[in-house]
Amino acid sequence: MSKNIAVIILAAGKGERMKSENPKALHNICGRPMLDYVLDLVRSLKVQKKVVVLGYKHEVIRKSFVLGQDIAIQKKMLGTADAVKTALGKLKGFKGTVLVLYADTPLLKKETVNKLLKYHIENSLDATLLTAKLDKPQGYGRIVRDKYSVIRAIVEEKDADDFDRDIKEINTGIICFNKDSLEGALKQVRSNNRKKEYYLTDVIKILYKKGRLISAVKIEDINEALGINSQSDLAKANGIMQLRINQELMRQGILIVDPNSTFISYGVKIGQGTVIYPFTVIESSVRIGKRCLVGPFAHLRQGTRLSDDVTAGNFLETVRSKVGAKTFIKHFSYLGDTQVGRNANIGAGTVTANFDGRNKHLTIIKDNALVGSDTILVAPVEVGKGAVTGAGSVVIKNVPDKKTAVGVPARILKKKG
Ligand code: UD1
Ligand code: CA
Repeated sequence: MSKNIAVIILAAGKGERMKSENPKALHNICGRPMLDYVLDLVRSLKVQKKVVVLGYKHEVIRKSFVLGQDIAIQKKMLGTADAVKTALGKLKGFKGTVLVLYADTPLLKKETVNKLLKYHIENSLDATLLTAKLDKPQGYGRIVRDKYSVIRAIVEEKDADDFDRDIKEINTGIICFNKDSLEGALKQVRSNNRKKEYYLTDVIKILYKKGRLISAVKIEDINEALGINSQSDLAKANGIMQLRINQELMRQGILIVDPNSTFISYGVKIGQGTVIYPFTVIESSVRIGKRCLVGPFAHLRQGTRLSDDVTAGNFLETVRSKVGAKTFIKHFSYLGDTQVGRNANIGAGTVTANFDGRNKHLTIIKDNALVGSDTILVAPVEVGKGAVTGAGSVVIKNVPDKKTAVGVPARILKKKG
């Protein structure tokens, strides 16, 4: 089915309603830019061609993604019809199906899009819409059907009368077109609407008037239809995506005690048998081994790697740090730029002072070390194999293997203590 399909992704808009400096496509959902989800979806469809339409701050977006030649720049954001026209400039000579996706609809699943494409191609339609029935259709374009239930138009909310506004079936924005039919109709789109924009959705009434074949596939899971226009939509999308991520991890044998209060970024890898307690935040690129205990209230930031059987307990914060197998860090510690060996025990309240105001420095804690409660490790510094630090010590010099250091600043005791 992958033959003769081109995908156009519309990502030129500023996202006015986000009230943000950043282009909408760059806003994160579970630690990952919105546009990435749509690009992933397109990769999984294995289509012949892809064009991403960029406009607002396109240089910034370009730097964040590998888009190569597949970009069309929309000079003025004159509306979705104009954006599609811009993309078609890159598809000269292409014949077949054109699938339009919006960068602000990141929860869409590949199964749904494949179903839409299949239906469109098998029935040789001119346009096939992905629609959804919503109890609260506010903000979306409404699907208007004639007395035979054939789709005759999409009416944008701003242009809808009371009657149209009551319609619960909405346009998700995802539409398949026969390329020739689309091109012909686009020429007739005018901007005589409330927003003075060229609406892609107007193509539908033009095709209807020409007697062309229009149909729709209804989405089953309405969450997939969520269009992100505001910070509040973004928060909602985050919540939905988070539950998807947590469900997938649980399927892999990780216990997430309370999926509703556990925040794990997209792409985090966790080994089987690990338990994540509530109110834990795990950021992108973190790797956690098997049978670890994490949280409650742990914050594992970028560059954290936990080996197998690690306990990373209450109120722990880590960043750019590696922790060896079977090490315990059970109570409120901060480890930044730190390498901890195997079987070490990091006492309550241990803090690495990794930043001197200008640069970050490394702390190394070797295998079997016992770091006493409330130790401050002033980096760069090393705690040797099997070495011990006393409670409340401020360690500014390396502690040799098997030695004990105590006090402020810590001095090395002659004998192992
Ligand atoms: C659009 C649809 C609406 C649908 C809703 C689904 C139109 C006219 N309306 O409304 O029927 O229910 O999506 O979420 O299409 N964009 C460009 N260039 C432009 C304008 C927009 O690339 O000149 C891009 C935006 O970056 C965005 C997408 O097109 O990714 C949709 O634009 P947006 O302004 O969010 O449309 P909606 O008002 O949500
Ligand atoms: Ca939108």
